[in-house]
Amino acid sequence: MDNRYIGVFDSGLGGLTTVKELKKVLPNENIVYFGDTGRVPYGTRSEETIVKYVIDDINFLMSYDIKMIIIACGTASTVALPIVKNMYEIPMVGVVEASVNKAVSTTKSKKIGVIGTSGSINSGKYLQKIKEADRDINVYSNACPLFVPIVENGYADTEVAKMVAQDYLNPLIEKNIDTLILGCTHYPILKNTIKSIMGDGVELVDSGAETAKYVSEFLTDNDMLATARQDKQYMYFVSDNASNFSKIAGVFLGESIDGLVEKIDIENY
Ligand code: DGL
Repeated sequence: MDNRYIGVFDSGLGGLTTVKELKKVLPNENIVYFGDTGRVPYGTRSEETIVKYVIDDINFLMSYDIKMIIIACGTASTVALPIVKNMYEIPMVGVVEASVNKAVSTTKSKKIGVIGTSGSINSGKYLQKIKEADRDINVYSNACPLFVPIVENGYADTEVAKMVAQDYLNPLIEKNIDTLILGCTHYPILKNTIKSIMGDGVELVDSGAETAKYVSEFLTDNDMLATARQDKQYMYFVSDNASNFSKIAGVFLGESIDGLVEKIDIENY
């Protein structure tokens, strides 16, 4: 058993899709979350910048007593994780592996769609991992750069979101995919919108939720599950306006986190 915190980070709200699921499957775990809202989005930036941001984020989380880090961001997982994972001793888990495993075991037609940020799609990581699992699977990808600002600004369930999503998803509908990886952790917040366009015949793979399940197995296998809750079981930090984050995060998590969110200066880490 290990009662230390799990450190989770994303460029903003997206990693909460992992936190929401973690709270469900591992109710005793203590979580410290960082959303880099002052520097979102990551997905349109260069590898050099993403790696720099990710190192800051990890260093900030390491200033707490943590037992592992979840990189709850598709962009950071695809672009930076391969580079930073050997720089630290602490166990680190990204979102690619768990979602690829789920998609590969779900598809029947062997046609998988992947949507993510430009950084994630251009990295080719999802394609590579799917092909490693089964080279007969056809992979169709599309970057959806407008989805992150739509989510960060609280426009997930609106007509605007639907119009944008229709445009991004049409090329995948034409390919007759039966499984779609939401390869950016912001996208499950748009699940209703995406589902309404893709229809019931397409299984959506939620990268945040799949990663939470994977972490549950990892902690169990390594005898690292928490058995006691810290006084502050959940802590949330952001690098910009805390009240904006609290408002949108509270709606998504289905519970108020007012007063639990603190702004920090990430450039100091
Ligand atoms: N949630 C992120 C991801 O999974 C971040 C998107 C962004 O900052 O561009 O890729």
